[in-house]
Amino acid sequence: MDHFMREMITSLGGVDQAVCEFIRITDQSTPDAVFYRDCPELKTQSRTASGTPVFVQLLGGDPLRLAEHARSAVRLGAAGVDLNFGCPAKTVNRHDGGATLLLYPERMEKIVRAVRDAVPEHVPVTAKIRLGFSDPATCIESAQAVERGGATWLTVHCRTKIDMYKPPAFWTWIPEIKKHVALPIIANGDIFTPEDLHACAKVTGCTQFMIGRAALIDPFIFRRVRGLEVDPSWDAVLNLVRTFFDRTCEGVSPNFAQARTKQWLRELCKGRHAEAKVLFDEIKVLRDPQRLRATLRQGLAVTGGGRF
Ligand SMILES: Cc1cc2nc3c(=O)[nH]c(=O)nc-3n(C[C@H](O)[C@H](O)[C@H](O)COP(=O)(O)O)c2cc1C
Repeated sequence: MDHFMREMITSLGGVDQAVCEFIRITDQSTPDAVFYRDCPELKTQSRTASGTPVFVQLLGGDPLRLAEHARSAVRLGAAGVDLNFGCPAKTVNRHDGGATLLLYPERMEKIVRAVRDAVPEHVPVTAKIRLGFSDPATCIESAQAVERGGATWLTVHCRTKIDMYKPPAFWTWIPEIKKHVALPIIANGDIFTPEDLHACAKVTGCTQFMIGRAALIDPFIFRRVRGLEVDPSWDAVLNLVRTFFDRTCEGVSPNFAQARTKQWLRELCKGRHAEAKVLFDEIKVLRDPQRLRATLRQGLAVTGGGRF
């Protein structure tokens, strides 16, 4: 999720912690501008406007390069550094990054340790894994490697790389991991409703959770899981879509905003409001961002009168 979305979702409340999109570390150097582009919150004490800390996420396979980049991230103000050992994308995996590293726990340990040693003690260094590349039982070794490397906490996406995003997420591996490591574990995978979160808590014994896709499908999910009041109307969601579009227009460009808004509406179609589908069908064919803007405005102006 980009920073416009992070800004908006964290402004709704209920989010303790966010991570920026991954910065892929290759043998090329990474200009500061790339850190600022992917994590503009670096300019505001590494927090969103509503105060949620945002960690810089690094992806790569070379401990020294990752350590250097972690140091740069912290020099620029990162509140924490998160290491990606879970990305299943072929291009990433082919270039020695993401979930392929799950096959080499000793390298994972070296990476975590190099990054840990590179940044001041008070800066958290965290990691995210999948259960394994193809064998979920390797999650124990991976978690132990991350712990030995000195990570502050570990997020576990309860699927293997081969599983991609196929349901279900196998939460039952987390209690197995906890038998072998003392590191705090954050459970992740298939939490779409408060009921899912409670089920996950029961199975895993975790008290901290990462929510991914549901943030886009139901932006109020973080309020819901905390039992905070939520405006159940489509208008409330439509307001967010409009804000997101306008801010992305201002921040990048109308064409970029149009593309991102269409992507987001496609996700909202999976959620609780049938109106999302009606709106998506209407806007998906639009080519002119001004028409998209007008359609979003019109939707807002007349929803009370029953356009949807
Ligand atoms: C479009 C998309 C982008 C993602 N980007 C990242 C990423 O940069 N780093 C990461 O660790 N996981 C990433 N993930 C995985 C999610 O963080 C999460 O582990 C996964 O979606 C399962 O959780 P969920 O069921 O709550 O979505 C991404 C997932 C999706 C669908």
